[in-house]
Amino acid sequence: MQVVRFGIIGCGLMGREFASAVARWCHLPDMDVRPEIVAICNRSEKAFPWFVDNFASIRQSTTDYKELLANPEVDAVYCAVPHNLHQQFYCDIIIAGKHMMGEKPFGIDKAANDAILDCIKAHPGIFVRCSSEFPFIPAMQRLCNMIEQGEFGEIIEVNTGFVHSSDMDTSKPINWKRMIKFNGEYGCMGDLGMHACHVPFRAGWMPKNVRAILSNLVPERPDGKGEMVPCETWDNATLLCECINPLDGKPFPWTMKTQRIAPGEKDSWYMDFIGMKKCARFNSKNTNSIEILDYTNGEEQAWQVIDMGHETAFKSITGGIFEFGFSDSILQMWAAYLYELTHGKPIKKFAACVTPEETALSHKLFTAALESQKTKTTVKTDE
Ligand SMILES: NC(=O)c1ccc[n+]([C@@H]2O[C@H](COP(=O)([O-])OP(=O)(O)OC[C@H]3O[C@@H](n4cnc5c(N)ncnc54)[C@H](O)[C@@H]3O)[C@@H](O)[C@H]2O)c1
Repeated sequence: MQVVRFGIIGCGLMGREFASAVARWCHLPDMDVRPEIVAICNRSEKAFPWFVDNFASIRQSTTDYKELLANPEVDAVYCAVPHNLHQQFYCDIIIAGKHMMGEKPFGIDKAANDAILDCIKAHPGIFVRCSSEFPFIPAMQRLCNMIEQGEFGEIIEVNTGFVHSSDMDTSKPINWKRMIKFNGEYGCMGDLGMHACHVPFRAGWMPKNVRAILSNLVPERPDGKGEMVPCETWDNATLLCECINPLDGKPFPWTMKTQRIAPGEKDSWYMDFIGMKKCARFNSKNTNSIEILDYTNGEEQAWQVIDMGHETAFKSITGGIFEFGFSDSILQMWAAYLYELTHGKPIKKFAACVTPEETALSHKLFTAALESQKTKTTVKTDE
């Protein structure tokens, strides 16, 4: 069993999810590689006890990420820090010769993303990917197989999105994800957009242009100290893109919604693929179901609902009929990262992490969406 020794930079929400996946690596009996956490870095030391109490392998805890990068024991880094730090931290990690899993949006804006991609190009021996866990849900893996086999026929339309209601409560205090300085001009698109783009980009559905309508529904929030402060980030974004299907060269509409204020939606990630031969839809509200409509001329149009179990891309010890959850998708995503790092290619086209080139496509799209909102016009994304 090969061991890849990891450092974590950013021990918040996502840093802990990674650590928890490492702790139950024994769920994946066929893996010939495993991660070990040897070093952690966080701005505040308050995050350290949970990690060191649960992971005896951690030998370095520091508040200075450059100390972690100087540690020769660290082979790879998971970096999960606010967006304003992505460019500096990601480039320093790559220059230090460590493999990296970064977080979306992979740079606070297009200029930062361009700089990260230039750095990656200058260090070809370093394996770099961006996280996105939802496509690893078994129902989505099945739907992705259908894309790969061209089962939809001519595509009529695609709708994807990630919508939640965390910001419905207008009394919720502001945090870094609601401040342009830390989260970026993209607002909800930077936070949620990569999740809605990963599968379409992997399918090769490239947007040619976009018309975007962005909303700032709650322009002020409490600062947690008794005052109200401006909340300038976009809460909701609806994008209408013209895409080209590489299989037949024909255009089709792709709508993408990223919303933080979506009444009734706790945390819903969805994909609808509507084709001339077949249609399929998935919503993480019903994580273990996929709906498929298989149409034959002259026959009834009937949606089938298929229950999925634990049919994962990377074999798991969990019984085949048992339900799948969020932390399972994180575990599968990390299996994909380590598999590709050590085997040189993904186990399957759609069981793979986001590539740096795919993050660059998302930045082109979101930058064009900002321009579209400003000019109230359709903006090209393929130049
Ligand atoms: N893949 C997903 O589903 C998903 C979900 C949520 C967030 N994210 C992404 O993960 C990243 C982090 O988000 P989060 O929700 O974990 O945020 P978080 O605020 O919970 O954690 C960020 C951590 O970074 C630390 N940090 C800040 N500045 C630092 C510095 N200078 N040096 C070291 N540590 C520093 C903070 O102390 C904090 O613990 C973001 O890019 C976000 O977009 C991804």
